[in-house]
Amino acid sequence: MELTGKKIVLGLSGGVACYKAAELCRGLTKEGASVQVVMTDAATHFITPVTMQALSGKSVFTDQWDPRVPNNMAHIDVTRDADAIVIAPCSADFIRKLAHGACDDLLSTLCVARPRHVPLLAAPAMNVEMWTNPATQRNVQQLREDGIHILGPAAGAQACGEVGMGRMLEPADMLEEIVAAFQPKVMAGKRILITAGPTFEPIDPVRGITNLSSGKMGYAVARAAREAGAEVTLISGPTALATPHGVHRVDVQTAQQMMDAVNQAITGQHVFIAVAAVADWRVANPSTQKVKKTEGGTPHIAFEQNPDILATIAARTTLAGHPYCVGFAAESENLLEYGAAKRERKGIPLLVGNIGHHTFGQDDNTIVLFDEQGHTILPRADKLTLARQLISEISKRINKHSLFQ
Ligand code: CTP
Repeated sequence: MELTGKKIVLGLSGGVACYKAAELCRGLTKEGASVQVVMTDAATHFITPVTMQALSGKSVFTDQWDPRVPNNMAHIDVTRDADAIVIAPCSADFIRKLAHGACDDLLSTLCVARPRHVPLLAAPAMNVEMWTNPATQRNVQQLREDGIHILGPAAGAQACGEVGMGRMLEPADMLEEIVAAFQPKVMAGKRILITAGPTFEPIDPVRGITNLSSGKMGYAVARAAREAGAEVTLISGPTALATPHGVHRVDVQTAQQMMDAVNQAITGQHVFIAVAAVADWRVANPSTQKVKKTEGGTPHIAFEQNPDILATIAARTTLAGHPYCVGFAAESENLLEYGAAKRERKGIPLLVGNIGHHTFGQDDNTIVLFDEQGHTILPRADKLTLARQLISEISKRINKHSLFQ
């Protein structure tokens, strides 16, 4: 539960995307948040307050003159203990109101009346022409300058039948963004390149050699880095995982393709985190056609060495503009001894060790950080929690790194 104890005001303005706000409300409560829904009159034409009341477990505010608040000041009371206000969907007209500080209904008034420390997140939802209209863009720019977080919008098919920018983010992406809003921005302005997942080395067009890495840890590190404010590129071997919202993902299969993709993306990166379980060897000459069973015989597969991606990038650290390199090590025994030795062998300042069969495919893990000072154990936790701790540890260390001085 990512939002336990958080009080969120969920404001709906008018738009078809109100149906997504219903699912978002459910998602917020499932993550432990207490949600107070406030709807504009237009929003009530798209979805009823009854639905939102059932999903949030609280009666909904729609009226500035609602007598239920003892002092009759709902615009003040609703936000005083809020941790965040989320406007989803945020219509073109509501963006205009926010940009101009309008106070002509309960939702707009409480946005203006909110305490300055309460973050305001707005998820625009409108037709593509409305979104690209210069007046809307001027207002959105004003919101950004005023410190309002703009979530999305996304591009795609719209309810009106047109296609383009203006769709409200999907509820799952909204949820990730809202969770991210509560994370410290220790990597703001940083670019981070991450490898994740297994690699797949073909034997022939239908067979290959891979390993048990699920990619969960690499994807959690990518999400944590993005939550911390970084611009994140994730180079991923084959996995079944969804891309963390806001992360740029490049898919590869083989170690060589991963090496090529890393080489292409590495310039300008501040941090490189190699989480992928890269195959050390590949088949020397994979068959272009399916290898057939022959009477009594078994195929002879010859191997050749793959490039060591992490060691290659770490070796560039003598060049100007090098990234801070972090490696992972999956060992099956002697973790403390092998981890420390591997960090030195790879020539990197920080290595994260874990026991292979305890981590592959699992949701929880225990990790050990190896640096020049020795080692630190991060106790067992889910991978996202560990990933956030790791990002925080890296942020402390990169301040001492030459590139950041
Ligand atoms: N790594 C890499 N390229 C490779 C092999 C490993 O970038 N060809 C990276 C991994 O992403 C990880 C680190 O190196 O960050 C350590 O990987 P691991 O497989 O534990 O180590 P190896 O160097 O392969 O050593 P060994 O298998 O002998 O333990």
